[in-house]
Formats: sequence, C-alpha cells, structure tokens
Amino acid sequence: MIQFILNEKEVNTHLPPGTLLLDYIRYHKHLTGTKIGCREGDCGACTVLIGELTNGKLRYRSATSCLTALGNINGKHIVTIEGLNMQDLNPVQQLMCDEAGTQCGFCTPGFVVSMAGFCLSDKEATKENAIASIDGNICRCTGYKSIERAAYKLADLLKEKQGDEAIDYVTSKGILPAYFATVEERLKTLNSTLNGSLQSAQSTNIFLGGGTDLYVQKHDQMPHSSIDFLFNKQETKGIRKEGNNCIIGGAATVTDMIESPVIKEYFPQFAGISKLISSTPIRNIATIAGNFINASPIGDLTILFLALDAVVLLNDGTKTREVSLRKLYKGYKQLDKQPNEFVQQVSVALPGADTYFNFEKICKRTTLDIASVNTAINITMKSSKIAAAALSAGGVGPIPAYLSKSSALLVGKELTEELILELCETAQQEIAPISDARGSVEYKRLLLSQLIKAHFIVLFPTLKIEAIV
Ligand code: FES
Ligand code: FES
Repeated sequence: MIQFILNEKEVNTHLPPGTLLLDYIRYHKHLTGTKIGCREGDCGACTVLIGELTNGKLRYRSATSCLTALGNINGKHIVTIEGLNMQDLNPVQQLMCDEAGTQCGFCTPGFVVSMAGFCLSDKEATKENAIASIDGNICRCTGYKSIERAAYKLADLLKEKQGDEAIDYVTSKGILPAYFATVEERLKTLNSTLNGSLQSAQSTNIFLGGGTDLYVQKHDQMPHSSIDFLFNKQETKGIRKEGNNCIIGGAATVTDMIESPVIKEYFPQFAGISKLISSTPIRNIATIAGNFINASPIGDLTILFLALDAVVLLNDGTKTREVSLRKLYKGYKQLDKQPNEFVQQVSVALPGADTYFNFEKICKRTTLDIASVNTAINITMKSSKIAAAALSAGGVGPIPAYLSKSSALLVGKELTEELILELCETAQQEIAPISDARGSVEYKRLLLSQLIKAHFIVLFPTLKIEAIV
C-alpha cells in the first residue's frame, strides 16, 4: 500500500506502484485541474509539488506528474492546483489574472503550481529566481510577457520571505492555504507508521530512478511492470566528500547536486552549467544514474562526468563492482552492466587548485532541450604547462565519447593558439557524427570545434585567442 498526503487529505492506494501520479490524480481522484499535455515532461501542464522530509525539515520541489510513479511518493505530500485554492483566488492566481497571464487556461495550473513552489522554497525572492521556477512550463497563447510580469510581481510580494521560514511566511501572509503549516508534523507522523521504503519487487530487472526517461520510452508498459524503486533507497541517496573524492548517490537528482554543499565548494561552476540541463521540474526528479544508464550519446551529465573521469559503483543485490564511466559504453545503448545491476553511487576526484573545468552545449533553446553537440573539458595546469587533460563530447557518435587522443595531445604542452587549433583537428578525427533532427554531419563537426574553442575562452580569458575564434 502507498500512503501519502494529497493536498489536505491523507490518502492510500493499492494501485500498482508503477502507476503514474498524473493518472491517479485525474482518473482516481478526479482532480482534473492537473492537465495532460505531452506526457513527456516537456510542457509542464501536469506540474505538481512534492513535499518531502529532508533531515526532518519539509522541503517542496516541483515535478512533472506525467513522469512520476506512485512508488516514488510514498510518505510525501503531493500538491495539485486544487490544493492551492483558498476562499478567493490566492495571490498567485490573482497575479496571473491581473497581468493577463492566462488565456485559454490550459497551461495556467502548471504555471501557478510552479510559482507556488517558488513561494514555498528557500530561494531568495528575486525576479530571476521567480522566472527560473517556471522554466519547465510552456504556454502557447500568451507570448509569456504577461506571465513574466506576474512572476516579477510575485517576487516583489515575497521580498520579505526568509529562506528557512518560507512555509510559515506564505501561510501567515495568506499567500498559500494555512494547512501547509501543519504538513511537516503530519508527514513525521505518517512516516513513523510506514515501513521504510516501498518493498522492492522481486525478480525484476526494471530499476526506476526518477522516471524521467523510462516513462517516456515505456509509458504503457511501466504501470504493469514489477519495479525496483531506487529513488528513495538509502544506499543510493546523498552526496558526500570521502577523502579526496566526491561520492554521489545514484539516485541523487540534478537539483540535489546543485544544492549539495560539497558540489558548491568543489564544483562551483555546476550551478551555472545546470541551467543548460533540462528544466526545474525535471532536474528535481532526474537522477545521475538514470542519465548514465539511458546511455544517450548526448546525455548532459554523462558528458560532464566523462571529463571528470567518474567511477560508477554497480550493485547486483549481493555484491558491488566498480567500472570507469569511460569504459561503461560498449556500443549504441550497450553497456558493461548486467540486467540485475543498478548504479549505487558515482565517485569523482575532487579538483585541485590548478584544475579547470568547463561544459558547453548547443541546442535550439536554452532550457529543456537536447543538445546538438555538448562537450566538457577538465584540465590541470602545472606552471605554464598542461599536466592532465580530459575532453568529452556528445552528439558526435553512437556513444557518449571520451576523446582519448585529443586529451592526450594536450598533456605536457604549453597552452597556445596553435595547440587549440591542433586539438580541434584531432577531435575531428575521433568523432563520427551522423545527420539527424539536431543537425547535419558538417554542422555538428563545426559545433564541436567552436565549443572546444569556447572552453578555452571561458577558462583562460587572458589567453590571446582572437585568431581561432
Ligand atoms: Fe507535459 Fe507532463 S504532460 S510535462
Ligand atoms: Fe493557453 Fe497558456 S494560456 S496555453
């Protein structure tokens, strides 16, 4: 049985845990304010908030219910648009009306739920953060300017909100319903009665993380499958420093990484990079293990972690083994992984003071898009020479590519314009892109060269590189 709080009420269900939250909300609870648009995580019409106890504190994140399994929400608080209703329109809804942020209205519940997530979050109430909170929502009617105005006014309304006290603030000011102030205690009581995480299915080879990929690929099949849920498993959680390594649980989400103190300290560029990776509600549930195991030749995290020389710890339920991420991919969607193995954790060495890391991506729009080409580089300098280098690239072959010859070319050399041009040439020999919806062979080859140059422009701004741009 799965138990959780849905808006104000505690509910339970014996539906298969692979059932989608969206279908449960609409077809079993008849809460039809949550809309079905794409069912692929693209439009945000199905956005809900998921409230979860983290270290005893209630924390809300937005998520696409079209990609969220019931098995992943046991013991949590789910908020749909109906759970935000008050006597009159709440201030978020009112701002959307006042600014003409709603026309046909199909996207509006998703926008309002995402904005409510911003109200409840510990994020500073800036206009930038207000806009970022709706980066996973699409509207085909308004042209967005009216919604932007509503978001800006919401940031103004929340300007006295203090991070840790956000829930108290928005309930005491009547911005969101008063019952939110009671949810933390209710979840503590609910969780004390649950038997830990959901019982894993026996004899299954379907492991599920956040669901952002499997529910797109197999959305008919998943609700009827026996699933081993990894998202809330203790051994796949958390991000920590261990000696000279950063250990990232396989079920760590992109947002977990953004918010991790270890990542903030040792990989400060990740926060900026992460804006290029999907959208807020997807980053909130998409896991690092899912990105690796999907084996997309263009997975953003995969390309990033190839350059960092990540080591993956696979677990088959009885024993573990380590495999270098660079050796995990054997061919298109072929992995050095047995069906009964899941990614328990990922480790990367912490960078030293002379380490330079960068990620670049070209796609048709800034958020929630698949790259035409992406690439990462990790360089360690010693005096004026390159002591170690790693270059990776996606969208240029059948697997996420670690460009070993290009990487080796850099080692022991002075960093010069000529070397960068030679690197671009060598990289061209290592890749084998194909023409597809994201660009022709020629375009992708050109992109990789330009993105390699971009790495050096970003990392070594004092280097004279006019001749190569
Ligand atoms: Fe479009 Fe879920 S229905 S994101
Ligand atoms: Fe029609 Fe946004 S108001 S899709």
